[in-house]
Amino acid sequence: MNWNEWDVWDEWIGRILQQMFFMRWQNRLTSTLNIEYPIVQAPMLGITTPEMVAAISNAGGLGSLPVGGLSPETTLSLIKAVKALTSRPFAVNLFTFPHPSPASGPMLDNMRQFLDVLAEKYEVPFSVPPMESVRFYSYKEQIGILVQEKVPVVSFTFGIPDDESIMTLKNAACRLIGTATCVEEALLLENKFVDVITAQGFEAGGHRGSFITDNDPPLVGTFALVPQVADAVQLPVLAAGAIADGRGIMAALLLGAMGAQIGSAFLACHESQAGNAHKHILQNASAIDTTLTRSYTGRWARGINNAFMKAVKQSGLEIPAYPFQLQLTMPFRSHAQKMEMTDLLVMWAGQAASKAVRKSAAEIFQSLVQQTEKVAQKSSMTGELNR
Ligand SMILES: Cc1cc2nc3c(=O)[nH]c(=O)nc-3n(C[C@H](O)[C@H](O)[C@H](O)COP(=O)(O)O)c2cc1C
Repeated sequence: MNWNEWDVWDEWIGRILQQMFFMRWQNRLTSTLNIEYPIVQAPMLGITTPEMVAAISNAGGLGSLPVGGLSPETTLSLIKAVKALTSRPFAVNLFTFPHPSPASGPMLDNMRQFLDVLAEKYEVPFSVPPMESVRFYSYKEQIGILVQEKVPVVSFTFGIPDDESIMTLKNAACRLIGTATCVEEALLLENKFVDVITAQGFEAGGHRGSFITDNDPPLVGTFALVPQVADAVQLPVLAAGAIADGRGIMAALLLGAMGAQIGSAFLACHESQAGNAHKHILQNASAIDTTLTRSYTGRWARGINNAFMKAVKQSGLEIPAYPFQLQLTMPFRSHAQKMEMTDLLVMWAGQAASKAVRKSAAEIFQSLVQQTEKVAQKSSMTGELNR
């Protein structure tokens, strides 16, 4: 090695700085969740596989397994599949809305008739069982399994678990992550003794986690939301919504978050369940291609705008609440997935979805870490990570 050459010195100084930097990733969030890097792979129902979860946890982040609304049997087998692939901490994600009362009435009938006609146009076999006969699984049926399987972290969206469930999980040494879309929701979560709060901005892909009101949910952008939540609560905050590279992670940390929860950037990874057509559209999407809609599920969610969303909007019909609309649109969703029909396919995605790349989840994760380290070194702000 020629120590007289500047390039050699430069490389070694870079390595030493990087070593110092690695240590600086550690903060209150990483120690709370027992992880190496404060980067969480967002739970994405219908997309996330046990392989994706394990890849992120094995790389030093926190993988999140979504099980919202799934049966206890499926929940158990998915958790076991993750545990077979990693011994590192991972999160299981629940939908914590109150159990719906049985629904019937003209709103459901009108929507059923409209979808029946739309199904004919797209040649979708349309058959929906009567709502009274449909079985919806509550998070309460999943809590016992999480305790039995010693799940280290439980995250949730659409509300706060009841006191009994929180107590059961806390007694089992589970760390809890709640989702807030405004300061008021963050304060309610803090009062219920959760350990971490995800501040989910308006740009985020998938469902809004709002629970104060879903009819007219808070629409605060990540840049505005994160500092307000970080100032209002004592807990570590995770920023979520259109964070898809090192610049975004660094910005989240500077805004007062202690970590980032990232979804859309993993949509096209090898371990994702998204089909080819879906992945292709994502990579060619621009920020204006996503929109908020209630058309598929009855709850507000952000996804790639398509013919199905536009048709439901143009119908002017009132949309039944979650999970009744979810049930009514089931034939469209499953047919579209089978046939890769992007006109009808659910393609939840955030405003930074075009940054999704076709690589392995571990490669994407490592690149997020390296990009953040580079941004920090470049801007000489490494100290900011060490709060
Ligand atoms: C396809 C998809 C499915 C999602 N499913 C869930 C879910 O099951 N549970 C949950 O808490 N959040 C879910 N989300 C929201 C994410 O947790 C997270 O807030 C969001 O992905 C962050 O924004 P980003 O997509 O811009 O990174 C989903 C997001 C996407 C894109």
